[in-house]
Amino acid sequence: MADTLTPVLTADWAEKQSWKLATYERAGGYRALDKALSMAPDDIIAAVKDSGLRGRGGAGFPTGMKWGFIPQDNPNPKYLVVNADESEPGTCKDIPLMMASPHTLVEGVIISSFAIRANQAFIYIRGEVVHVIRRVQAAVAEAYAAGHLGRDIHGSGYDLEVIVHAGAGAYICGEETALLEGLEGRRGQPRLRPPFPAVAGLYASPTVINNVESIASVPSIIGNGAEWFASMGTEKSKGFGIFSLSGHVANPGQYEAPLGTTLRTLIDLAGGVRNGHELKFWTPGGSSTPILTAEHLDVPLDFEAVGAAGSMLGTRALQIFDETTCVVRAVLRWTEFYKHESCGKCTPCREGTYWLVQVLTKLENGTGAEGDLEVLLDQCDNILGRAFCALGDGATGPITSSIAYFREEYLEHLSNHGCPFDPAASTLFAAEGAGR
Ligand SMILES: Cc1cc2nc3c(=O)[nH]c(=O)nc-3n(C[C@H](O)[C@H](O)[C@H](O)COP(=O)(O)O)c2cc1C
Ligand code: SF4
Repeated sequence: MADTLTPVLTADWAEKQSWKLATYERAGGYRALDKALSMAPDDIIAAVKDSGLRGRGGAGFPTGMKWGFIPQDNPNPKYLVVNADESEPGTCKDIPLMMASPHTLVEGVIISSFAIRANQAFIYIRGEVVHVIRRVQAAVAEAYAAGHLGRDIHGSGYDLEVIVHAGAGAYICGEETALLEGLEGRRGQPRLRPPFPAVAGLYASPTVINNVESIASVPSIIGNGAEWFASMGTEKSKGFGIFSLSGHVANPGQYEAPLGTTLRTLIDLAGGVRNGHELKFWTPGGSSTPILTAEHLDVPLDFEAVGAAGSMLGTRALQIFDETTCVVRAVLRWTEFYKHESCGKCTPCREGTYWLVQVLTKLENGTGAEGDLEVLLDQCDNILGRAFCALGDGATGPITSSIAYFREEYLEHLSNHGCPFDPAASTLFAAEGAGR
């Protein structure tokens, strides 16, 4: 078990009042900050580079390299922005982290800001999760009162102000440039790049944007050393990550393990697929990552191997679906989400997601035609690579992958003149009376 799970970020989640400063400090919290403040900022950047940490927000960009792009000769202020928008269906790691251990994030914010020479940082939290906003605000207030934030931190001469910002609740505001628009008070729509945020981000100044988990990993890297972090994981995907299992598993939840673990291992740890059912399909990293099936149970969950299997590691949001689930229905629900969340800036996504829902609805309720499958694939082809941001691309992943693996099930809806999984028309649920 010790080799299977590597609790670092989640190590103290079960402690009484784990979110309080006193609890965090008792477990060694804010000691990495002392160490960081005694280092040269460039050495911190080098340590994060050497650790091999890659962004935990989905794309896996090397964190230290991103920090190194900040032009230090630019006279404008530098900013750190933490992306705590977490809205991808299935993704549920940053919110539990901020609830259970907000000081891990706050300490990470201070060290990271010091490294990039920022005196102002923002934590942008999705607006709907008011309890999380309050929790992080309280932690920031505690950190100010204890001298971890504000002027002359730990007597080092370094000053940092942190603002906890509540978003208005839109999935697109998790896209880093739309987030910056939102933070500046404008409608959340992605910006054209270049310029990249490292050069002209928030208020046209050099800005680093990182995911909550990326920043929360920094204190442990500085505290234990880059080699310690790099000793876990795989050759190109170093360290540990929080894997969130949801759906049809006996014990859903967050499992922190080295990158490169497998779904088979994680499902075992989670007590297996529920009630003796069988795995049918799953997402490796949220709903915008193409689905995989039971044949992929042993794919190492790192950036390279999941990519080679035709999907993406994304946010390690492992949504598990057993054989009682209609894949067409699941894909339709996700597509409705993308249609709803499309920001409307570009035509392929704004119009395309609308039409995807139209065609999928007909296929799901059995009123479509076989040719609709080709229409659907053609629509996806017209969105993928042609949309302004990755939301449009992401909307196509579940559709193309589900047709690749479950074309027969789509056709069954047509021959059945309706969903074969509809409880009213199916004997599948009669035996156990199980809800879906
Ligand atoms: C539609 C969309 C939504 C996104 N939502 C999030 C999010 O909620 N949290 C996040 O960290 N990154 C999200 N991202 C990725 C960010 O644009 C960005 O890559 C990330 O915050 C960078 O941090 P990292 O390098 O630490 O992973 C989203 C991207 C897209 C296209
Ligand atoms: S792909 Fe969708 S979300 Fe992204 S800019 Fe275009 S319309 Fe907006």
